Amino acid sequence: MEKTLAAITAVNGWVPEYILTNNELEKLVETTDEWIITRTGIRERRVLKGKGLGSSDIAVNAVNGLLKKRGIGPEEIEMIICATTTPDLVFPATANIISDKTGMKNAFGFDLNAACSGFLYALVSGSKFIESGQYKKVLVVGVDKMSAIVDYTDRTTCVIFGDGGGAVLLEPSTDGNGIIDSVLKSDGAGRAHLHQKAGGSVLPSSHETIDARQHYVYQEGQAVFKFAVTKMADVSAEIMERNHLKPDDIAWLVPHQANKRIIDATANRMGIGSEKVMLNIQKFGNTTNGTIPLCLWEWENKLHKGDKLVLAAFGGGFTWGSVYVKWAYDGAK
Ligand SMILES: CC(C)(COP(=O)(O)OP(=O)(O)OC[C@H]1O[C@@H](n2cnc3c(N)ncnc32)[C@H](O)[C@@H]1OP(=O)(O)O)[C@@H](O)C(=O)NCCC(=O)NCCS
Repeated sequence: MEKTLAAITAVNGWVPEYILTNNELEKLVETTDEWIITRTGIRERRVLKGKGLGSSDIAVNAVNGLLKKRGIGPEEIEMIICATTTPDLVFPATANIISDKTGMKNAFGFDLNAACSGFLYALVSGSKFIESGQYKKVLVVGVDKMSAIVDYTDRTTCVIFGDGGGAVLLEPSTDGNGIIDSVLKSDGAGRAHLHQKAGGSVLPSSHETIDARQHYVYQEGQAVFKFAVTKMADVSAEIMERNHLKPDDIAWLVPHQANKRIIDATANRMGIGSEKVMLNIQKFGNTTNGTIPLCLWEWENKLHKGDKLVLAAFGGGFTWGSVYVKWAYDGAK
């Protein structure tokens, strides 16, 4: 019998109804539809409207749909890891809030913050709990309500981000399909280029921090771009090399959706044609922890058992990584 791997056995995603188009952004900041499309590939993104709604509400929709698809009840989930940069509250963890709202009474869980690489970090972390043999049903959520921390007067950031998220279920598999390998990296010096200045313990929120708009995403776009374009390609090439994967072996590249130019550079470096790249940035923008599960959800019907997927991401921190997955089932359930 082959060793126990963690297989993705179900996936689901959810995005809010409200569509924020480039044309609408043209009315908020000095920008153009053409600039945004050419420089980022984004046409529209979703925004969660409604008082009192947070990341957990996006996740609950994704999770409830996933449980229904898989035909299991919430009480069967043993563990939940929620990757998010926009938790409902500073504490407790959004994972606990999702458990409460969905009725996962037997699950313990925690949040994981690795910015846009969070879903990959969480996926790999969850897989180790399955591989250990101690847990049989681990839920991994990637979700963000970026509209909560985006400054809609700053044209350099507000055009990029959107709200959304998704979830995957991990279960043990012994047929060779599942999460095969991963390369995860971080470099804390990168925090200088992408962070949120206020609201943490160094600079708690105050009237002054709000007036100075320090509770929003701060980004030095060019510095982040240069780093991302190299590092995401590096780890994708590394995972191919050490698993002896040729471009023809790979069914899909599943990239973090931050900028179409970064995705194209990664695919080029891997020698993969655009027909094998999951791309939905034009519809959803950068949903931070949501991008990869949203792609898997949208492409689920096209996936086959045994398909070789390379997932790749980078994010604030800096964090970056790639994960090699052999898909475990045919099409949608
Ligand atoms: C943010 C980003 C799209 C900007 O694109 P860019 O090609 O690097 O653009 P630059 O920052 O060099 O700016 C070029 C010009 O466009 C302007 N500009 C910036 N945003 C603009 C917008 N929304 N509309 C119109 N012009 C804009 C700049 O002010 C600058 O003008 P200037 O030349 O007069 O100074 C790009 O840097 C990027 O995607 N970076 C990575 C961001 C990322 O992935 N973040 C998430 C991490 S997970």
